[in-house]
Amino acid sequence: MPKKANNWHFARPKLAKTYLDLFEVGLTSARGLFARRRMGKTEFLKQDFIPAAEARGYVAVYVNLWDLELDPATALVSEFYKAVEPKGFDRVWAHFKRPIKKVKASGKVPGIGEGTVEAELADDNRLSGTLLMEAVRAFDKTKIKMILVIDEAQVLAYDDNAHFAHALRAALDIRKDRIKVIFAGSSEPTLRRMFGVSSEPFYNWAPLEPFELLGRDFVEAMVERVNTISKYELSVVDALHAFSQLKNTPEFFRRYVEHYVSNPLDGSAAALAATKTRVFSDEGFKQQWDALLAADKVILAMLAGGVTDLHSKAALSRLGSELGIGDAVNKNTIQNALRRLSDKNIVTKIDYGLYQFEDEALADWVRHRDA
Ligand SMILES: Nc1ncnc2c1ncn2[C@@H]1O[C@H](COP(=O)(O)OP(=O)(O)O)[C@@H](O)[C@H]1O
Ligand SMILES: [Mg+2]
Repeated sequence: MPKKANNWHFARPKLAKTYLDLFEVGLTSARGLFARRRMGKTEFLKQDFIPAAEARGYVAVYVNLWDLELDPATALVSEFYKAVEPKGFDRVWAHFKRPIKKVKASGKVPGIGEGTVEAELADDNRLSGTLLMEAVRAFDKTKIKMILVIDEAQVLAYDDNAHFAHALRAALDIRKDRIKVIFAGSSEPTLRRMFGVSSEPFYNWAPLEPFELLGRDFVEAMVERVNTISKYELSVVDALHAFSQLKNTPEFFRRYVEHYVSNPLDGSAAALAATKTRVFSDEGFKQQWDALLAADKVILAMLAGGVTDLHSKAALSRLGSELGIGDAVNKNTIQNALRRLSDKNIVTKIDYGLYQFEDEALADWVRHRDA
């Protein structure tokens, strides 16, 4: 294991061991874990869990479905395939000679380009389907024990990915003895639906549990590190206070620590105040908001205001009038706005036609932005 990788990383070997042991007992071959964003899921999976799995002889495959370079299905199978047989993957991939699809962020007029989107979806389905077949065929020729880590796995529950999710479930079903799966995600309601609704491909497939959050041990370890490099001692009491003020969020706490270390004379209270302003200020939200298309803003404003049926006539006519284009809007306009917003991880679909904000703080900001 590379030791110097990240000396601020708080290692969690026990938690990694717990997961691995559970797999090895053989009662489960998959687990689902959830926690809000910025709580340390990805860092744990990549820096603790995967190295521990590899040390036990597993081939570990990690994929984050929020990675937008490829569609999620293609990204997942590509990683799987590469881990099993890189040469085979290169051959098949070259055969497709597939231009990497750029995420389209342009377009002044909302509602254009539905045709292209449909065509891309069909292509994506064909590609990921073929890749999946080839990848499991290659896998079956090996004796590999695999751990597949699917980060932000709630993406598999989106409608666009239903086709692939069914194919993946089928492929994993008959290989449970050799492929263990961790599904991690930030959206508890979506994951609940994914594993708890009988019409969903992964119904009953994995027990879902909260990800063990970082707490006092983490804070103490960070304080110790600060005090080995800083002449100005940080007290555990101050650090714990900061952690709780920052809503027990490791990411924000790390920013506080950074601020403390680079401005040691200012002290803990100043570091906390600076971090809070940066983290909870309007600035980030305002920037995010300004970068959105007009149609997307209207949709978000409706969602923040409690409109649940975004496909209703009332929603359509409000969109038309706010954009000043009257009847020129249709369901595709809404659909495309929602797709863009999901691609940016701003909203998540929780059920047919039902969406929610990923970040409650942003919803709050949108609600009060005029005040
Ligand atoms: N074990 C850890 N040790 C040190 N810092 C951590 C740890 N886990 C999380 N962090 C901090 O929190 C940030 C967010 O963590 P991340 O794993 O990306 O969260 P999530 O995947 O839950 O959204 C990291 O970039 C890091 O700054
Ligand atoms: Mg993450």
